[in-house]
Amino acid sequence: MKRIVNFIWILLCTVVVHASGSGDGRQVENFDFGWRFSLDPHLNERKAMRQSFDDEGWKYLNLPHDWAVEGYFSEKYPSGPGGGALPGGVGWYRKHFKIDKKDVGKRIYIHFDGAYMNTSVYFNGKKIGWRPYGYIPFEYELTSLVNFDGDNVILVKVDNSDQPNSRWYSGCGIYRNVYLIKTGGVHVVTDGTYIKTTSLTEKAAELEVVTTLCNKTGKQETVEVKSILKDRDGNVVDEAESRPIIAPTTDSNTDIVHTLDVANPHLWNLDDTYMYTLFTEIKIDGFLVDSYETPYGIRNIKFTADKGFFLNGKNMKINGVCLHHDLGCLGAAINNVALHRQLKMLKDMGCNGIRCTHNPPAPELLNMCDTMGFVVMDEAFDMWRRRKTANDYARFFDKWHEVDLRDMVRRDRNHPCIVMWSIGNEVLEQWNSANADTLSLAMANLVLNFGHNEKQEIESGKKNMNTLLTEHLIKIVKDLDQTRPVTAGCNEPSPANNLFKAEGLDIIGYNYHNQNIPDVPKNFPGKPFIITESVSALATRGYYRMPSDSMFIWPKRWDIPFEDATFSCSSYDNCHVPWGSTHEETLDVVKNNDFVAGQFLWTGFDYIGEPTPFGWPARSSFFGVVDLAGFPKDAYYLYQSEWSDKPVLHLFPHWTWDEGDEIDMWCYYNNADEVELFVNGESRGVRKKTEHCYHAVWNKVFYRPGSVKVVARKNGAVVGTKEIFTAGKPRSIRLTADKTVQKADRRDLTYITVEILDQQGHLCPDATDLVRFVISQGNAKIIGVDNGSPISSERFKIDCRRAFYGKCLVVVQNNGDAGKIKLTASSGILTPASVEIDVIR
Ligand code: GAL
Repeated sequence: MKRIVNFIWILLCTVVVHASGSGDGRQVENFDFGWRFSLDPHLNERKAMRQSFDDEGWKYLNLPHDWAVEGYFSEKYPSGPGGGALPGGVGWYRKHFKIDKKDVGKRIYIHFDGAYMNTSVYFNGKKIGWRPYGYIPFEYELTSLVNFDGDNVILVKVDNSDQPNSRWYSGCGIYRNVYLIKTGGVHVVTDGTYIKTTSLTEKAAELEVVTTLCNKTGKQETVEVKSILKDRDGNVVDEAESRPIIAPTTDSNTDIVHTLDVANPHLWNLDDTYMYTLFTEIKIDGFLVDSYETPYGIRNIKFTADKGFFLNGKNMKINGVCLHHDLGCLGAAINNVALHRQLKMLKDMGCNGIRCTHNPPAPELLNMCDTMGFVVMDEAFDMWRRRKTANDYARFFDKWHEVDLRDMVRRDRNHPCIVMWSIGNEVLEQWNSANADTLSLAMANLVLNFGHNEKQEIESGKKNMNTLLTEHLIKIVKDLDQTRPVTAGCNEPSPANNLFKAEGLDIIGYNYHNQNIPDVPKNFPGKPFIITESVSALATRGYYRMPSDSMFIWPKRWDIPFEDATFSCSSYDNCHVPWGSTHEETLDVVKNNDFVAGQFLWTGFDYIGEPTPFGWPARSSFFGVVDLAGFPKDAYYLYQSEWSDKPVLHLFPHWTWDEGDEIDMWCYYNNADEVELFVNGESRGVRKKTEHCYHAVWNKVFYRPGSVKVVARKNGAVVGTKEIFTAGKPRSIRLTADKTVQKADRRDLTYITVEILDQQGHLCPDATDLVRFVISQGNAKIIGVDNGSPISSERFKIDCRRAFYGKCLVVVQNNGDAGKIKLTASSGILTPASVEIDVIR
């Protein structure tokens, strides 16, 4: 039941937050369908923006869309393997649409949740805007140019040709959702409600609601503004009303403040994600001209220097992961089903926190964190003024940082899931250096509006420019939200770090540097601390390098090229980058230091780009505890055994080796006192985890074909067993669909796991068979294939895939028609398999 409720909430919130309203007063139409697309490098912009331009030859497609992920991998692309070795370029989107005459008098806007990057928008022959930052939403008013009688044409130019410009894979195109919004002349501005819990006891909560209105009617209006708070069942909890007189303004808006009381507030918690909804109604002369909905969760957060994080008074560790925004073979194109699949796997692992690295996430991610129960560190930038890659956001920072940062905080500040803001990741302004691109005082005045105090502080040597820049960013955030602490993911752990010296940096956050963590209380007295990024262990699913107790620290140094003929990283938790640690090491640090609020491990899922420690042909990461296809690596079960109450008994590796091999067998388990290993029925000994060691190990177990089995016991009674059999030659294919019913909406997905089995039905752990997929019935498409290999040059958008360590994946999406879909998988002499999916309305 709870799952169903969660799901309904996801759907509701997806509509609500972006739609920002419903009812007569405001219509929000999803604008994703029916676009035309071209990658023509010679396209003449002036011609393409004309309404009469002939786009018949352009490709027909729906948004969200990422053209890069459709391409071939090549080391020649300027993105480089760090950016996923996928193409960039300039993409053009056009859409024709009608606006009904009954909408005359309404204000009409187009809203983009995000397009990567340098996006120019033209409407009915005129350029209406340009937005460089690829991770931020933007919106333009169309009203004065709308053709109510005939065709309207929107042209969008997305320019991602200057690469590299993002760490890591960015995607290319309009990769987030688009909406067409129609409102009355007086309306709530986008993200124009801000709800704060001003007091909270068990018996009562007081909420302050600030509603920002604009008046585009051209005349002074007396409006009724009503705030109605409803509980999850739709019962009115409290309401307030006012009747301000609003002047017609173009450059300044009007804030209306209401106070609402909630008796016996039902708190938002990680396992009870209770949300209220604020309904805002704007009326003129009794007519509803705008309506707006804001989901809101009431909860209390606190960080302390000695005990870390508290949610609703309860002390807890943030057991978080960093999440990059791509969705594997779907690329950066946001899809709710794909995102939900990721978050569900992380939730099942026991993860309770997400850090959106290193940029503002899709709004759907925050909606889902609200409804599924994660806390979030919402991050604005990966660089400030000093660039990290040749063409990155640093070139836009001076002009755009304030607008972008404000837009992020305004969009996100009602989400209960967000418990801290991050103003940046590993920005180079942490350090001073002689040739640093620091601001001159004159420039600082110009771009940062430094006032008298700041000037004095610099001139007297009290603060340097980078500390002041940090304070400037903190001020922007706090101007909009003082209910959450501000932090940054630093990689300089010393108190000499310019950022740590900034006033208002509430939480000391740094990445890695476990060896410095014991000194935090001494170095930063009175300050809360969180490991904003941790671990960076490396693993290829299915690959094991022995002896398992020898460490592979790869690469030797981040700036020295590294090679290993295998292009593979060991899955025994014995391989990590020099700045990182094993999974167990950081788990131990967090567990045994009360003052550490938690960690965000790098990363939950593998992502496209950053194939550290290797270069080409590697093109996606090795860091995830889940691979790019969504198959868990072994470390997933380590976290599950520590972070969740789910019973875990995970034995690895497989048991298909060469005669005479000696194999290190590992086991992650919980809820048991001991585990015993058997090879073909013969005991190889009992093991127990020890205080700082989170796995059991049997070294050099002599391999004999047959089976290896682990038995877990608690108080002497068997509480679990796991047996792995030696596999023979590949004989058949098994398909396992994550669901067999889809909604006929052109968005729903079924993820189908493909496994290569032997005669007995055991997984062949080394199989590499090429599997071909055919949709033999139904109106559907294969939207992606993958196998989790970070070095494969096979494309994501084709109808075949080689198995990688016995497995691959195919993702199927309906084309909007109800009916049956049948997908068949075949490979040479292997017995084929098929799955059927019902598509329903
Ligand atoms: C961090 C950085 C991440 C990623 C990670 C890999 O320093 O913030 O973006 O590069 O290293 O270990």
